[in-house]
Amino acid sequence: MTARTHLPSASFPVRRMDFSFAQTEKYWWSGDPFMSHFMNNLSSLFPYGEMFFVNSVRAVREKITEPQLKKDISAFIGQEAMHSKEHATYNEYAAKHDIDLERLELRIKVLLEWVTKITTKKQRLAATCALEHFTATMAQQLLLREDLTTQIDDPKMYQLWMWHAIEENEHKAVCYDAYQAIGGGYFTRVAMMAISTVIFFGVIGWFQLHLLRKDRQLFNWASWRNGLRALFSPRDGFLTKLILPYLDYYRPGFHPFDHDTKALEKRWKERLGFSG
Ligand SMILES: [Fe+2]
Ligand SMILES: [Fe+2]
Repeated sequence: MTARTHLPSASFPVRRMDFSFAQTEKYWWSGDPFMSHFMNNLSSLFPYGEMFFVNSVRAVREKITEPQLKKDISAFIGQEAMHSKEHATYNEYAAKHDIDLERLELRIKVLLEWVTKITTKKQRLAATCALEHFTATMAQQLLLREDLTTQIDDPKMYQLWMWHAIEENEHKAVCYDAYQAIGGGYFTRVAMMAISTVIFFGVIGWFQLHLLRKDRQLFNWASWRNGLRALFSPRDGFLTKLILPYLDYYRPGFHPFDHDTKALEKRWKERLGFSG
């Protein structure tokens, strides 16, 4: 009798998507400039940001021996490459409304090329773990917050962001597990989180001002008030709600699956009609 090796399948699928944003209105978030640009701002980070994540994991892939993790790394690369591609398609909408997201994306490219030059593979993977924690916790907020997501007027944007939010939670532990598998320790993990936090918020603050200024909305105080309330309200601001899960990352022994989102993902997959 010949022995058969059962290779595990990945813990989550790679879904092929092909969005078109040609019909999307300029202020697709409740007709509001600040919040529409805040989401445009986040989108501009993804085309090169997610390729950086892919490269960081790819760089250590041959050191990983655990079969399940190897499969999950392949699926992670598939999901992030698809996110990168669809957020590049987002430029179709941006170009139509004279929003220069490509220029912002190129700034991210330059920044990440510089980061790649001055860091080790392990440091880059730790930075990826940190940024994956941002994307996973922001995505969890999106999945939870109907009060915010019902403000998305455009069906394609809605599908894009909710699809991306599901997948960020599905694959949130892959980089972390790879980091631990190559012997990554606590100090580098939290140091890279602290540095990534400063850079991340510095960049989105700068990009937000840039997008509002270019769109002649910098002094639209009503929109600022609306946006700042949505992001920073002490009770339920989108970013305020991220503070506790953010701090949890600094706990020794933290693991992304400590924040269990399986039931939430399942609910949303059914809602968007995904089979798996
Ligand atoms: Fe992603
Ligand atoms: Fe991700």
